[in-house]
Amino acid sequence: MLPQNLIEAETFARARLARVVYDYYRSGAWDETSLRRNREAFEQIDLWPRVLVDVSSRDAGTTLLGTRVSAPILAAPTAFHRLAHPDGEVATARAVAAAGSIMVLSSLSTTAVEEVVAQGATVWFQLYANKDPGITQALTDRVIAAGCKALMLTADTPVWGTRERDQRNGFRLPHGLGAPNLASLDPVGELKSRTGSAMCGAFDWMLHPALSWQELERICARSPVPVLLKGVMRGDDSARAIECGCAGVVVSNHGGRQLDGTPATIESLPKVVEAVAGRGLVLVDGGVRRGTDVLKALALGADAVQIGRPQLWGLACGGEEGVRLIFDQLARELDISMALAGCRSLTEITADLVRWRSAP
Ligand code: FNR
Ligand code: LAC
Repeated sequence: MLPQNLIEAETFARARLARVVYDYYRSGAWDETSLRRNREAFEQIDLWPRVLVDVSSRDAGTTLLGTRVSAPILAAPTAFHRLAHPDGEVATARAVAAAGSIMVLSSLSTTAVEEVVAQGATVWFQLYANKDPGITQALTDRVIAAGCKALMLTADTPVWGTRERDQRNGFRLPHGLGAPNLASLDPVGELKSRTGSAMCGAFDWMLHPALSWQELERICARSPVPVLLKGVMRGDDSARAIECGCAGVVVSNHGGRQLDGTPATIESLPKVVEAVAGRGLVLVDGGVRRGTDVLKALALGADAVQIGRPQLWGLACGGEEGVRLIFDQLARELDISMALAGCRSLTEITADLVRWRSAP
């Protein structure tokens, strides 16, 4: 039996995954209020459909930084895919290619970037800037040489958020799995030697608590490919990212895994769209599980959405096929939602289709 939708996929995946892995994937920080709000806020938005539009022909396709996608739904960067399935990121990349989407590959992938790119998908690389600019530079040079078409610098991670279940479980990578994009850059072999929660031990060395706007500017200036800033929640930060040379921003609270207590990302989206004012792409992630969620995000001005955890649930349910199912289900739901709302193309998904039930 296959899951019917992305929400059900989590239930199926939970039954298949080791508890420690499921907890790592699912968890939010502290009380998990942001994790919950990401989902709940979508229910605070009403859809106001148009009728008697000829919707017999519909197309959800668009072009993002020069890549044509069949629907504005991307694979958000998520770490450690081989914890969910032995094929890991290779399976995800193949499914994303088949779905006609874009894979944003995590710095912390359990498969080397070169092998992921070889699967044929358009790959953007999620970058954790290192304290040592030489390491950041070496990593960006490597991923661009491998064929990654954009960089997505994560800004909401000066330190790791606290996911208490991971601490209790002593989450760490099992023997045999590693982070091959980083291992050769890790000067003291910490990735291999540290024990305990990987998020507050072995991977600390790669975070950069002093990452600055000046450094973002330098990264943008040196990069031959477009740079997106991921993890913005504020209009002023978003405008500043564009002024530093970013090609766009990703409204994200890291799936509720970093600072608990932020609003839902869908609530922050309108302010970011206003501040960016058409000068760059605006993507959003966090709690996108239904085609109607995608429709709402687009109506509020997003150019595309990303899905995080659902990829991992798909992988756990059935490797490449499972991830493909997730993308197909969400795209099909978006298509039906567009038809029912009277939209034939993304340009017809306009702000008048949505209204907040209570002002955010
Ligand atoms: C993430 N996310 C993330 N973000 C990032 O920039 N680099 C990373 O390596 C990871 N790793 C990661 C692992 C896991 C298990 C999760 C759940 C999330 C955050 C991710 O890109 C995205 O912002 C959220 O997952 C979006 O929320 P949903 O779709 O999971 O609700
Ligand atoms: C996480 C890191 C890898 O959220 O971004 O677990």
